[in-house]
Amino acid sequence: MTYFIARDSAALSIGAEQTADALTSAAPDADIVRTGSRGLYWLEPLVEIEHAGRRVGFGPVDAGDVDDVVHAVANGTQEQHPRFVGRIDQLLREQGQQRLTFARCGVIAPTDFDAFVQHGGTAGLRAALAQSGQATIDAVKESGLRGRGGAGFPAGIKWQTVHDTPGAEKFVVCNADEGDSGTFADRMLMEGDPFTLLEGMAIAGVATGATQGYIYLRSEYPDALQTLTEAIDVAHRHGMLGSNVLGSGYGFDIEIRLGAGAYICGEETSLLESLEGKRGLIRFKPPLPAIEGFQAKPTVLNNVITLATTPTILAHGAATYQGLGINKSCGTLTLQLAGNVARPGLYEIPFGTTLGHVINELGGGSASGRPVRTAQVGGPLGAYVPVQHFDTPIGYEELGEKHAMVGHGGVVVFDDSVDMAEQARFAMEFTDIESCGKCTPCRVGSVRAQEVISEIVAGNDRESNAELLRELMELMGQGSLCAHGGMAPAPVLSALNHFSEDFGVHAPAEVD
Ligand SMILES: Cc1cc2nc3c(=O)[nH]c(=O)nc-3n(C[C@H](O)[C@H](O)[C@H](O)COP(=O)(O)O)c2cc1C
Ligand code: SF4
Repeated sequence: MTYFIARDSAALSIGAEQTADALTSAAPDADIVRTGSRGLYWLEPLVEIEHAGRRVGFGPVDAGDVDDVVHAVANGTQEQHPRFVGRIDQLLREQGQQRLTFARCGVIAPTDFDAFVQHGGTAGLRAALAQSGQATIDAVKESGLRGRGGAGFPAGIKWQTVHDTPGAEKFVVCNADEGDSGTFADRMLMEGDPFTLLEGMAIAGVATGATQGYIYLRSEYPDALQTLTEAIDVAHRHGMLGSNVLGSGYGFDIEIRLGAGAYICGEETSLLESLEGKRGLIRFKPPLPAIEGFQAKPTVLNNVITLATTPTILAHGAATYQGLGINKSCGTLTLQLAGNVARPGLYEIPFGTTLGHVINELGGGSASGRPVRTAQVGGPLGAYVPVQHFDTPIGYEELGEKHAMVGHGGVVVFDDSVDMAEQARFAMEFTDIESCGKCTPCRVGSVRAQEVISEIVAGNDRESNAELLRELMELMGQGSLCAHGGMAPAPVLSALNHFSEDFGVHAPAEVD
């Protein structure tokens, strides 16, 4: 009998450690395997039991429930137990999930290299080592994989630029700063299946000619740091990293560098400054990081999920990945559902599913039981999508047509008690606090916008101040040096246009 229970920091925060301790006492003869999370956060602490080749789950299981669960399993009455949820892989399939990037997360112990290999690990890297760098880049291009950090730029084109740029030294930098509200996919992957990220970085290195990788990790993720540190050490011992990657003669190594807690250090040029030990200020582009990145050398700079998705593409073929999704949004999106929602968690689903389906069917609607009013999609600078747009398929262009964005795939749900004027003011407060300060539209505009919203809320010259707010947003959107100020209008304008009643102003003549 084997029990599986997550040691993911979200599961730990709601008592997984106590549940694991209780299991050790209640079932001393059983094997207890600590895994990452399956991403079914409303069921955490989730306990899975494998017996005679069958793996079934119970959740949520507090320490106080453990004796009862163990007893039911021993009696063969587990299916009648109120916490019984059945087979988790079946549940994920019923939800329409297609676990490609997260296939092993929650299934195996995060730093068990043998289990990683048994479940398909290293197949992608072996494929990359067996062919030319160009062939690997072609596969990534064909797969249609777009960067998952926010901008959605095609990964293969970025890799091609690094490959084609001459340079004795090249780097792979993984952006693990994950500062967007409601996002946790990067953390979950690093804590639950870290070898996949290391494998993806090694593939990027082999394909482009880079020999050194850096993971820029946010300091707020101590559990991810611990798991990644252990995983790098284990990967070295098994020859997946080091001077002779999987016996190929090719050398690739990875170091972790911690950020100091600034949102703007997630922006790629600012990240590079920080990685070089300087203050996280935006760099002018061009040159692109792919041409002059870390230490002015050609650098692949990708998000955790982008890099961690390349092993499955290389192992199973570009066409399999490209065949999923909608239009120019290929493959699966690791959507993170949070906020006021009954079933929060990570849903890896093909692009093209509608927001309404995700929020109401998969997420079960609001946690409060009140009607859902809106969801902010794509992080703190993402638009508030009103329910009348919930039939929009999730895709980069499709959401773009509604002035919204996929971003890092975070969806934060709000019920009808939300005050959208307050949300708009909060967005500007966030932009102000996290601005790097280099350009005036963002540094000053975000302060001025808070003042104008306060005037509107106070009932002073509402209509003319709303007009002023729109002008200010246009100025920030067009005049800012980077996407921090450039995207800031999205939450404010979506709130003002779709929820004008919360500002006490007239709705615009046309709202699209
Ligand atoms: C203000 C700001 C914050 C960002 N934060 C992150 C982040 O935390 N993680 C991330 O991967 N990308 C972040 N990005 C996007 C990066 O600049 C960059 O586009 C991305 O890391 C490139 O990787 P990708 O092509 O794999 O998405 C941020 C961008 C901006 C403007
Ligand atoms: S938009 Fe904001 S964060 Fe970006 S460069 Fe200007 S001041 Fe810095």
